[in-house]
Amino acid sequence: MNTSIYYFSGTGNAKRVSEWISNITEESGFSSKLINIDELASRRSIEKPDSELIGFASPTHGFNFPPIMLNFLWHFPKARKGQKAFIVNTRAGMKMGKLFLPGLSGIAQLFAALVLILKGYAIIAMKPVDMPSNWISFHPGMRQKVVASIIEKREETTKRFARKMYSGKKNYRALFDIVQDLVIAPISLLYYAIGRFVLAKTFIASSDCIQCNLCIKNCPVNAIHYVNNRPFWSYKCESCMRCMNACPTRAIETAHGFVITLGILLDIVGIAYLNTLLNYENLLTSYLPKIAAVLSILAINSVIFFVFLLIIYRLMHFLLRFKCFEKLIIYSSFTKYKFWRRYKPKF
Ligand SMILES: Cc1cc2nc3c(=O)[nH]c(=O)nc-3n(C[C@H](O)[C@H](O)[C@H](O)COP(=O)(O)O)c2cc1C
Repeated sequence: MNTSIYYFSGTGNAKRVSEWISNITEESGFSSKLINIDELASRRSIEKPDSELIGFASPTHGFNFPPIMLNFLWHFPKARKGQKAFIVNTRAGMKMGKLFLPGLSGIAQLFAALVLILKGYAIIAMKPVDMPSNWISFHPGMRQKVVASIIEKREETTKRFARKMYSGKKNYRALFDIVQDLVIAPISLLYYAIGRFVLAKTFIASSDCIQCNLCIKNCPVNAIHYVNNRPFWSYKCESCMRCMNACPTRAIETAHGFVITLGILLDIVGIAYLNTLLNYENLLTSYLPKIAAVLSILAINSVIFFVFLLIIYRLMHFLLRFKCFEKLIIYSSFTKYKFWRRYKPKF
């Protein structure tokens, strides 16, 4: 089966997995095309591939595929007769002592499979690959030795998976976790609707930024631009971690202290205060049926939350020009400290 693999990769894991599969495609005597979707993803129409087998590889973000991959799948052409597909999601693999720990897929594979089936593709393989976690807003990057040992193990299992696929065996390994994946599905939806936007507003650039523009040039969704001579992250950011991990001066931080303070202020003080002022909860519950009232309150609170977040992120960005404020924000970010490694796998 001649194969085209479309991949999105923030920090190289999904790209690496696609390359391993592509090696096996060629080893099995077929032609292989690797296509990075960074540029294709913003297009409304995508050229119909003529390969018999189409692969899709992407990291898992918030128990789902990231929006860039979801949009790409959505706009991907319908299948030609007999065209097959496989799906690979890379996840947050970890290692404790000798134990390799898996990540969680959520609806990443399930949703992608549904879209592809509706487009007429026959899914022949679905596989999660637990590559080293790159989510360094949440945890420090792993030591190089650990990263290398996870990668070595995953290369072996991915190639074995690909060999099986090219020998004609179907493989639905991703479905083994279907129960836990469905249980966490509501979190996937919350991440898609709210979480990713909040994360986008946690990034800042310190005065160590040398304006090399690497973060701006490499951002797959053009989410970063300059405001007041400093990189500024718009709501388009998907937190793929490419900018933070690639920054040559480690100037990009996740503003933990700021985010925690802001969360408390917005959620408890801001929304509660506005509610007392406008009394919208009482008004809605007396005029609407219960479920409609709850949904409306949720919608109103979300709008308030996002408007506040935007205003305060702008304000923080403005205040960063003052040395003492910058110090406060930067030194209350865990990512500032040396022990909080970046994710830079050496291949
Ligand atoms: C914003 C964000 C969300 C993530 N969410 C998940 C998740 O829900 N489940 C999981 O197993 N890994 C999650 N991860 C980890 C990545 O999916 C994993 O490290 C992946 O291999 C990165 O691939 P890449 O280098 O191709 O971007 C997340 C990473 C980021 C940055």
